[in-house]
Amino acid sequence: MELRAVKGMNDILPDEAARWQRLEQAFREHVARYGYDEVRTPILEHTALFSRQIGETTDVVEKEMYSFARHGDELTVRPEGTAGAARAYVEHKIHTKEPVSRWYYLGPMFRGERPAKGRYRQFYQAGCELYGDAGPLADAEMIEMILSLLSSGLGISNIEVRLNSLGASGTRARYRDALVAYFTPMKDKLSEDSQRRLEKNPLRILDSKDPRDREASKGAPSILELLDEADAAHFAGVRRHLDALDVRYIVDPTLVRGLDYYTRTLFEFVTTAGDLGAQSTVVGGGRYDNMIEGLGGPSVPAIGFAMGIERLLTLMPGEASRERPAIYIAPLSDTCTSRALVLGRDLRARGVRVEVDGRGGRLKAMLRRADSLGAKLCVILGDGELERGVVSVKDLAAHKQDEVPLADAADVLAARARAEVSPPPGEAR
Ligand code: HAM
Repeated sequence: MELRAVKGMNDILPDEAARWQRLEQAFREHVARYGYDEVRTPILEHTALFSRQIGETTDVVEKEMYSFARHGDELTVRPEGTAGAARAYVEHKIHTKEPVSRWYYLGPMFRGERPAKGRYRQFYQAGCELYGDAGPLADAEMIEMILSLLSSGLGISNIEVRLNSLGASGTRARYRDALVAYFTPMKDKLSEDSQRRLEKNPLRILDSKDPRDREASKGAPSILELLDEADAAHFAGVRRHLDALDVRYIVDPTLVRGLDYYTRTLFEFVTTAGDLGAQSTVVGGGRYDNMIEGLGGPSVPAIGFAMGIERLLTLMPGEASRERPAIYIAPLSDTCTSRALVLGRDLRARGVRVEVDGRGGRLKAMLRRADSLGAKLCVILGDGELERGVVSVKDLAAHKQDEVPLADAADVLAARARAEVSPPPGEAR
């Protein structure tokens, strides 16, 4: 049987990896300007971490996690990064070391969803978590940070910001009651999942993709009318700061998101480009002020987001391009290969990207390879050259050839590799 990659899990081959690196680099540089440092947490965590934090009645926990028992532990391959980062924050008592922490992460997440364009079983997120700042400034600054990354950093336009507030726990409890009262008379018109979740977690009905639930949700009460004074003041503060930053957003009272840990501010960034269909949400996040305490830590507020890298890459302009070697070295005989290796090492020590052809054989094939790789220079090292103490250097763009003394070949060629235009043949620099 031919073995293939697991369904919903993709290979990222070197041709595509260049664009991934560009996106990741832009993300790292951008969030660093806002004070974020990288955290790396394990891919595996105890299953209870996710089921308790994300919520027992969410799709992620009920249907999508890759969980297994091994060596007496119930483990889950992480479906997202927030719970693991919060666990690390509590475990290492970070709050005793600094009042505010800003962490970012990049890496693969795993959810057993039905694969589609932009929806995979292994997918990559870049995310940030901010601990220790409860004020609306943090929410607005984070939203502005994401928006400027997408627009200036990645060149992605056609993005809409959707904003909502779920209020703190008191508001959520009142909203829950209001939803139960609203949905109960139409219970038999709801999907089976929603009928089951009606009492426990009616908020999930608003987030359901089932057409029956969407129809039933149309007249549902708005949480914004139930916010208490403190929640409403926080939300007004977020909006005021966003206005000051000239960030445009749409208040969407139906936005609840699929994870149970959120309190107060919630946001999603959605592309209007149309290409991604149901997978048009490229960034999701919000405040989760109760998680650190829920994990046994002190009462520390938190807010964060994660973006889907595959989804952003479909929107990011720019061709994939692999880096080219500056110099290709073609040794023409066995006696020349050791010298070619030494020259390759010395050029790399000078910061040049070099490939040495170890296949042996004919010059013509080696030149063809140098050309197809897009190398700037091909260095030819044959027995004749060795005897005379030189190397032949073919400038592949200028179609010119000259010789350079072997003794100072590394310095001369490194300088030529870096030069915008190669010097004319015979003029060693
Ligand atoms: P999420 O909304 O579940 O939030 O995921 C965030 C983003 O990850 C989505 O907007 C989407 O771009 C991408 N994504 C999710 N599932 C898939 C998938 N199956 N295939 C491809 N891309 C996907 C979270 O994960 C939260 N941890 C975000 C957060 C951080 N909230 C607070 N801090």
